[in-house]
Order: sequence, then structure tokens, then C-alpha cells
Amino acid sequence: MAKDPTGKNTSGRGQRELKVKVKTARGRTLSSTRWLQRQLNDPYVKRAQAEGYRGRAAFKILELDEKFRFLVPGARVVDLGCAPGGWCQVAVKRVNALGEKSGKAVGTVLGIDLQEVDQIPGADLHVLDFLAEGADEQVKAWLGGKADVVMSDMAASSSGHKQTDHLRIISLCEAAAYFAFDVLEEGGTFAAKVLAGGAEGELQKILKQRFAKVANVKPPASRADSSEKFVVATGFRGVAAREDAASE
Ligand SMILES: C[S@@+](CC[C@H](N)C(=O)[O-])C[C@H]1O[C@@H](n2cnc3c(N)ncnc32)[C@H](O)[C@@H]1O
Repeated sequence: MAKDPTGKNTSGRGQRELKVKVKTARGRTLSSTRWLQRQLNDPYVKRAQAEGYRGRAAFKILELDEKFRFLVPGARVVDLGCAPGGWCQVAVKRVNALGEKSGKAVGTVLGIDLQEVDQIPGADLHVLDFLAEGADEQVKAWLGGKADVVMSDMAASSSGHKQTDHLRIISLCEAAAYFAFDVLEEGGTFAAKVLAGGAEGELQKILKQRFAKVANVKPPASRADSSEKFVVATGFRGVAAREDAASE
């Protein structure tokens, strides 16, 4: 039976959701009225509130993990651009960072963001600009070893210019990918947000040299009207692939 993201049955008669209509209030712009109306009617927003996630973004990583199964107990995860913390909350549970799944390996979650993030039990969170000089070395020092998963939902605030936003997100994604090449354990996974727009070809090429599989995915939780999509690269080939790529 068909279910919506809130888990309710959507097939059959009389199942239509009541839509919340937001009146334009004095001082509220038309775009903020539209934003509020979309938030109030978004089933993922409702589900995030009901399940205690800090944002609807949590469902994007949940859906990617349902498909690719990289957040396994014992995994060491780096989450780049982690505020307000939805992805970290998901990762803490799935990798068993709090040791709640008895008999299963205990993983770790390290998150960084430009913004301060309220603490999440089981996650090690830091404020850092990932594009600042020496940022990758700083994250490696916090990590203190290899990682099994590097994930990035980093996005600069919108400039209002589509191509500029696209190029910015690609450079964030590339920085995350090169960091992943340095820290990933063989067999590891890289999952990152990109925006469709043309400049992602080079990134795909680099990823294909170093990972067994590279997939481009638009999870259902990603809004249809957004050009956002995710690249998930699995089966990191390790140092040997790096040397092969350098000699090409
Ligand atoms: C879409 S939000 C991430 C949402 C997060 N995955 C979650 O589930 O809560 C994108 C984040 O990327 C962060 N960001 C953008 N540029 C960054 C940079 N250079 N270094 C670190 N974080 C950055 C932003 O501050 C923002 O919090």
C-alpha cells in the first residue's frame, strides 16, 4: 500500500492531507510566507519533528544509506557541513556510536561546520571553515586515523546566481573528495551533495579513478524543484588507485 513520508497510507479515497494555509501578515514578505507555507505542509518536516531530527535533511542521508548501506555499526564517519546536525544524528544511531546495539561494533562520528552545532551525544563536533588553509590537516588531527565514510552536505549560502552557486558547491565537493582520498580506508565510501549544472564532469572522472562504483542519486527527500543531487562513491580503491591516477 502506498505510504507518504509520514508513514500514512496515501492510497484510496478520503486520504487527502489537509493543507495549512498561511495568511500574509503585516511585515512578512511574500517569499517568507511561501517558505512558511511549504515548511508547514512538508511531510518530511513533520516527520523530522516527530522523530526528533534537527531537520528534514536527515531523511536524505537515511534514504542514501537505505540504498548503499555505508553507515554500518563500527564505521568511522566524517560529516562535513554538519549543522544543524540531522546527518550526525542519523550516523550516531546507525554506526552505534553510543554502543546501544549490544554485541555490535562501536563507530565514531566527527562533524564540522562553519556554524556552531548544539552537542549531539555520540558525535564529536567542531566549528571550522573547511576551505580555510590547513583545515584538512586539522580534521585529520581530530580524526586521529582512517575513516570508513566521508560525507558532505556542505553548501554555501545562495548567491541567487545559479551558475555561481553551482561552481561554489562543486569546489566544496572537490575539497571534500580530496580529503576523502587521504583519509578513507580501502573499501570506504564518499557521499556528497552536488548541484546539477555542468561542472561536475571532472569530479565524476576523478571519483571513477578511485572508487569501484560512482552513482548519482536524487533521494525522494530532496525537493523536486531543487537542482541538488548526491554523488555516492563506494569501494575506495586506496593508495594503488592514487598512484595509477597520478601516472596517467
Ligand atoms: C544543508 S546544510 C547541512 C545540513 C546537515 N547535513 C544536517 O543534516 O543538518 C549545509 C551546511 O554547510 C555548511 N558549510 C558551507 N560551507 C562550509 C565550509 N566552507 N566549511 C564548513 N561548513 C560549511 C553550512 O554552514 C551549512 O550548515
